[in-house]
Amino acid sequence: CNHIAFYRRQKLLHPGKSLYQALLDSVTLCNDSVKLQIINEKNKVPLLVEIYAIEGNIFRLKINEVSPLKSRYEVPDVLIKEPTTQRLSIAQKEAGILVLTCASEDRKLHITANPFQIELESKGETVLSVNTNGLLYFEHLQPPPQNRCEISISHSAVFVMLLKINQQEFRSGALGASAPQEAPVVGLKPRDPPDPAGQKPRAPPPHHRAEAPSPSRPGPSSIGLDFSLHGCEHVYGIPEHAETLLLKNTSDDDAYRLFNLDVYGHKIHDKMGIYGSVPFLLAHKPNRTSGIFWLNSSETLVEINTKAIVKLIFGRERQRVVPQTDVRWMSESGIIDVFLLMGPNPFDIFKQYAQLTGTQALPPLFSLGYHQCRWNYEDEQDVKTVDAGFDEHDIPYDVIWLDIEHTEGKRYFTWDKKKFQHPKRMQELLTRKKRKLVVIIDPHIKVDPMYTLYSQAKKKGYFVKNRTGQDFEGICWPGSSSYLDFTNPDVREWYADQFAFKSYKGSTDILFVWNDMNEPSVFKAAELTMQRDAVHHGNWEHREVHNLYGFYQQMATAEGLIKRSGGQKRPFVLTRSFFAGSQKYGAVWTGDNVAEWSYLKISIPMLLTISIAGISFCGADVGGFIGDPEPELLVRWYQAGAYQPFFRGHANIESKRREPWLFGDENTRIIREAIRERYTLLPYLYSLFYRAHTTAEPVMRPLWVEFPKEQETFGVEDEYMLGK
Ligand SMILES: *[C@@H]1O[C@H](CO)[C@@H](O)[C@H](O)[C@H]1NC(C)=O
Ligand SMILES: *[C@@H]1O[C@H](CO)[C@@H](O)[C@H](O)[C@H]1NC(C)=O
Ligand SMILES: *[C@@H]1O[C@H](CO)[C@@H](O)[C@H](O)[C@H]1NC(C)=O
Ligand SMILES: *[C@@H]1O[C@H](CO)[C@@H](O)[C@H](O)[C@H]1NC(C)=O
Ligand SMILES: *[C@@H]1O[C@H](CO)[C@@H](O)[C@H](O)[C@H]1NC(C)=O
Repeated sequence: CNHIAFYRRQKLLHPGKSLYQALLDSVTLCNDSVKLQIINEKNKVPLLVEIYAIEGNIFRLKINEVSPLKSRYEVPDVLIKEPTTQRLSIAQKEAGILVLTCASEDRKLHITANPFQIELESKGETVLSVNTNGLLYFEHLQPPPQNRCEISISHSAVFVMLLKINQQEFRSGALGASAPQEAPVVGLKPRDPPDPAGQKPRAPPPHHRAEAPSPSRPGPSSIGLDFSLHGCEHVYGIPEHAETLLLKNTSDDDAYRLFNLDVYGHKIHDKMGIYGSVPFLLAHKPNRTSGIFWLNSSETLVEINTKAIVKLIFGRERQRVVPQTDVRWMSESGIIDVFLLMGPNPFDIFKQYAQLTGTQALPPLFSLGYHQCRWNYEDEQDVKTVDAGFDEHDIPYDVIWLDIEHTEGKRYFTWDKKKFQHPKRMQELLTRKKRKLVVIIDPHIKVDPMYTLYSQAKKKGYFVKNRTGQDFEGICWPGSSSYLDFTNPDVREWYADQFAFKSYKGSTDILFVWNDMNEPSVFKAAELTMQRDAVHHGNWEHREVHNLYGFYQQMATAEGLIKRSGGQKRPFVLTRSFFAGSQKYGAVWTGDNVAEWSYLKISIPMLLTISIAGISFCGADVGGFIGDPEPELLVRWYQAGAYQPFFRGHANIESKRREPWLFGDENTRIIREAIRERYTLLPYLYSLFYRAHTTAEPVMRPLWVEFPKEQETFGVEDEYMLGK
């Protein structure tokens, strides 16, 4: 974390008394909210706090500048609708205390003016408090550099201190206008496909990042806030990390990082961000579950610290020790917009979160069966042989997959003219057996004026731009590529139309889609992703929308498949990158795992975490994507995978063939049995998905969800429930 500039700036603030005071004179009661100003006692700059009581035991807290220089990015499209608010009334406003009550549900807010703190109470119990450690942090937008000095004089000591840090870093070249926007990447060889090596370059370590003002963003705009969860020592959520189910205490420098990245063969027990991010944390104690949903799509860090608090028991000479977990959120950019979910039981939390972000899309039944994938099934004959192999060995399966090699030079929506000459004939063969095909469609588009998709998108201005306003170009599988700007609704509509049968030559109604590399992955770039100052629709910088990029590609793809069927059929779209709300569009998987026992083991807590963060349709590649599993590992992986929501065998281009019948009769028999057990359970799984879709119950659940009062279940991650 110490490589991350906004982290270093926020860490200059130490826990203690908050610098902010609430101005109780500024309190205004509106129909849907209560507004008040808080002021930083050092720099005297006010902030506007808006508090909403949302139907269903949720509070929303927004903190923004009173008159920002430029509006800050607000995450669109994640909330399914503007939440229905309930009226708050003022119960008390005196002696530096403001008490707000919500008539329709038994809940209250206590706001202390100095230092500024908020306590949330539900049915007489204080569930959580805000800014108890005084870590509210808000960087105000600044005018461009030439004016900065004047501003710093009229502002405060804190402001000047920040400015100094910036200036030092300007000098050291780590930050600032004269420094390159991204540090050059060392140690990565250019990788020009076709390259059968099958090694994606590993992510280089995080780099210092420029945060100098640019035309589209006036200076640093990082934000932070802390929350205390009373009586809680078990917290969960904030995927995606290859980590334990129970979130760990973070020490200095190892916060959980939410930043979508392509990390080939990612490490285990690492808090580094990988492919997806859901900024939703759940806390549980025997009689209450609560949640914090930090709606932010820029890079975010979360620190967790569980401690024991000694409380005097009123009226007796006794002390009681109660746990408390402090959670500190820090984001690179944006406003503070946080939803505080009050439960009280785990299923209430799932409903409250779904009320905001939507429920799991109901998958088509076939997609709950077994999927057979490999990078790559070579040609039509290979597909035919593998398909026949399942029949010969009497193993049920529903879907065969094609990776990037099926295209003409990694031009998505095309077929390799030699290897896949008759894609329709191949699909007819599968159709006769009631089977399906899934093909990969990545977001990078080969720079090639002869490639219609490229030339059309270029002409329409549908690519992400770079700082100088030209189409951003980066290296990915096809070589030099531009990236569709899925944050633009027009681009999404156009993209969805590409799936029409008349546009997508050789596609039929049994063809479904897999979106990979959508973090987005950019080879030979810092951390293998897009530079943060690339420019999206609405002139927003990439840093603001980074974690939403994959979410939008999956949204557009799902929309395309629905449109293609005239609104008649449920789509199936798998995505590697995801955000809060991705459940509305399909399935996710845990990316490039390794054929080792430890990756099989970690798949369970990873999937449980993704599941309770709203995304029920999730899985991990059976067998492990990278390397070659020993036969027993492969067999065990099938036995485990058969009970996970999304069930797909997949292997890297360098891995040996591993279709289920290649390891001797005995192993074939055990794998057949595991896959058949899956098929026996299909009606049950389908019903569970129906419940996930209608009432937001996760399909795969940690034990504590079903046994919320049994403390010994709270940390269990080697057993889980499917439904009840
Ligand atoms: C507030 O609610 C009242 C009564 O429902 C309504 O008359 C008024 O127009 C509302 N005000 C605003 C600003 O929406
Ligand atoms: C975090 O630290 C506290 C206090 O040292 C300890 O009680 C708790 O078990 C730790 N939590 C985890 C998940 O390790
Ligand atoms: C949970 O237990 C605590 C302490 O035992 C109590 O104060 C609180 O009211 C209980 N909450 C609920 C929702 O039952
Ligand atoms: C951070 O928080 C809120 C969520 O809407 C949002 O308004 C703000 O724009 C977010 N920033 C980013 C970069 O997502
Ligand atoms: C922007 O992209 C173009 C190619 O499209 C490139 O020539 C130019 O150098 C890039 N500018 C910056 C600042 O990266």
